[in-house]
Amino acid sequence: MKNCKLSWALVVVLLIIVALLGYKFTVGNVRPSDDGRQAVMLSKDERNALLLEMRVWLQNSQGILSAASKNDFETVIQTAKASGMGAEAEVPGALFRKLPVEMKALGFDTRRKFDGIAADAENFKDSNHIVSKLSIAMNNCVACHAMYRFVETIQ
Ligand code: HEC
Repeated sequence: MKNCKLSWALVVVLLIIVALLGYKFTVGNVRPSDDGRQAVMLSKDERNALLLEMRVWLQNSQGILSAASKNDFETVIQTAKASGMGAEAEVPGALFRKLPVEMKALGFDTRRKFDGIAADAENFKDSNHIVSKLSIAMNNCVACHAMYRFVETIQ
């Protein structure tokens, strides 16, 4: 009987730990920011790595527009793929846990949309369609920037 109580206590403690870890994984390492957004707290290297990824996205978005305006679909395909799932860098677990779950979802969805642009460029070769798909993908850029900022923690 005593042993049974002890194991229940252990189960409860373990469940609490799992719930806390799950919660931390979902919310990420965020603080309210005084500009109304959520500040994602990162180390200097983590912030630099993510900002570099952002600049690549901007560059590739411009590259897609420029290539689509010249009906250069091969360049559209290559450039869109360079922003797609295949180009997702190995994100260290420690950084992954700091990002809120909605942010990760929006990031992956953006990569999938770039893959969609590459596939459509291959299948339809229609520059108006590419411009419209890129415009839809870029709603994700706008949405995420409205919600989050990256702040370097002092450590
Ligand atoms: C999942 C969220 C998310 C998505 C999606 C996203 N960004 Fe960002 N981006 C951020 C955050 C957060 C910052 C940092 C903003 C800050 O701290 O004020 C940022 C910063 C940037 C910067 C500044 C880089 C620097 O060196 O300072 C650029 C450029 C940028 N993003 C471009 C883009 C483009 C283009 C897209 C879409 C193709 C995009 N981002 C999509 C979250 C996102």
